[in-house]
Amino acid sequence: MLDKKLFSAYLRQQRQLAMPDFVLSEKIITLEQNKSAKINRSVVKPAEKAPSVTNAKAPGSASRLKSLRPVAQLIPQKPTTSKKTAVAFEPDPALLLMPKREALKEMLFKGCNKCHLCGTRKKYVFGSGNAEASIMVIGEAPGAEEDEQGLPFVGEAGAMLTKMLNAIGLNRKDDVFISNVLKCRPPENRNPETSEILACMPVLLTQISIIKPKAILLLGRIAAHAVLGSADSIAKLRSKVHDYNGIPSMVVYHPAALLRSAEYKKPAWEDLQKFQALLESLGIHGTAEK
Ligand code: URA
Repeated sequence: MLDKKLFSAYLRQQRQLAMPDFVLSEKIITLEQNKSAKINRSVVKPAEKAPSVTNAKAPGSASRLKSLRPVAQLIPQKPTTSKKTAVAFEPDPALLLMPKREALKEMLFKGCNKCHLCGTRKKYVFGSGNAEASIMVIGEAPGAEEDEQGLPFVGEAGAMLTKMLNAIGLNRKDDVFISNVLKCRPPENRNPETSEILACMPVLLTQISIIKPKAILLLGRIAAHAVLGSADSIAKLRSKVHDYNGIPSMVVYHPAALLRSAEYKKPAWEDLQKFQALLESLGIHGTAEK
């Protein structure tokens, strides 16, 4: 829809330049013409190439050009609020009114084909666990095993994740909901591309909006960057409590990193203990058998 203020400002500039409007249709121009006798209707043509203001060569207009500002600057701009998320996003309000499990089921059945990974995946790996859980655990993307089964963290890294959660008293079936930034496997387990992350984030952010976790555990760099909107290294992001839209969130090394290199085990264990302390401070207690 045409922004009336923007349109008026545009016409004001055109008048200062003694330029007719070449962009908008004659019908729209007629509305404005009542106020502006200077616009000559006979030269108004629909949708022709717009002369750029800086290149305009109306007679006698050169001296005025310097004082002109781009049209968008004539409209008072709202102050921009900096929100620390990777993607600006509003969830579908209808989903937020449904029981959590039903809302997640609806999303799962809807599926997704917003990026090219839907052409190479075997299964859409939406997430698993308890829709009513107080904790969300977010990884990077499904691997081969997850792609086969349609469930997150069921391969080797999944077995490591189960141990990590158990170590701090959490049972992956009841105490958490597990999801990934990408819901489809990138071929050859390559790193997710930015375009894939951007296409997929609304699904993850909707999941968070539905589940409303009291705490989030982010596994590895990709999840930390995508959710926190940060580009800092894991070394910098770990061991602190971050805020995702009011939800305390912590970053730990990805379970696959622990499988690749034992050097990550000690810092990961320290971070998991900090996460457990955070949970206790929030009154959240896991149900894993000791
Ligand atoms: N790695 C991830 O980040 N997610 C999975 O689901 C499996 C492995």
